[in-house]
Amino acid sequence: MISLFDLFQNAKRDARTLAMIALYDAPTAALACDADADLILVGDSMGNVMLGFDDTTKVSIDDIARHTGAVVRGVKSSTRSDVPIVADLPFATYDTPDDALKNSAVLIKQGAHAVKLEGANESSLAAIRVLVQHHIPVIGHIGFTPQSAAHLSGIVQGKTLEGAKQLLDDAQNIEDAGAIAIVLEAMPSVVAAKITQRLTISTIGIGAGAHCDAQVLVWHDLVGFSPRAPFRFVKRFAQIHDVLLDATRQFVNETHDKSFPDASHEYSMPDEELRKWQQEN
Ligand code: KIV
Repeated sequence: MISLFDLFQNAKRDARTLAMIALYDAPTAALACDADADLILVGDSMGNVMLGFDDTTKVSIDDIARHTGAVVRGVKSSTRSDVPIVADLPFATYDTPDDALKNSAVLIKQGAHAVKLEGANESSLAAIRVLVQHHIPVIGHIGFTPQSAAHLSGIVQGKTLEGAKQLLDDAQNIEDAGAIAIVLEAMPSVVAAKITQRLTISTIGIGAGAHCDAQVLVWHDLVGFSPRAPFRFVKRFAQIHDVLLDATRQFVNETHDKSFPDASHEYSMPDEELRKWQQEN
């Protein structure tokens, strides 16, 4: 299996844009592999998307570990069992280098090939450095960082000259700390393009325009799982909510009107056993 570092570096060298999908379970992992996704993220967006929380800060290391295990098994069951898996370090699990190491080890033991963490403050950079020292590949994440959304104004970051320069510095600091790639979330595309050009590591864009080295979307968003209008940066490649609602409603209706199950869904007994059964009952 090619290392994640080489995957990113080769793609950047060849100007091949990688497709990453954030997802959380075995069947969607297998689906993403069968669809030729280049890599998978077990994102803490599971807090909003799967676990019913209104932000990602409630997601625990146990949540990410359990879902990483499921994704690893899904990838193994697919036609492309070597697709790399990145797992998110959730809120407050990398405040100290020791925490970062201990919690990353949990995810690596589940089968993740790299971890991702948010921010470029001193504790995030220290976490990146210690993980790199321990040979754990790390991906950074700047721009809109959901774990610290309460301290950010709005979704799109870097809209002022000062803000844009800060993002450029943050990205450089994350590269210097040893990360192998960096997620750029919700920022003007000119800023993301400059960061992509400036860094030697790969950028992974989400709401950061077309010039990033890779793109990531949440699987549930790209297939239109929710009826709610998505963020501007999401493209819905399908509208499966309507299909799922229709199928679910049909089951309920056919159960209520007794048209399901019919004979084609029933099991029978061998004739001889049936005859004996009928004699007794
Ligand atoms: O948690 C997540 O899904 C993410 C992506 C949106 C980059 O961090």
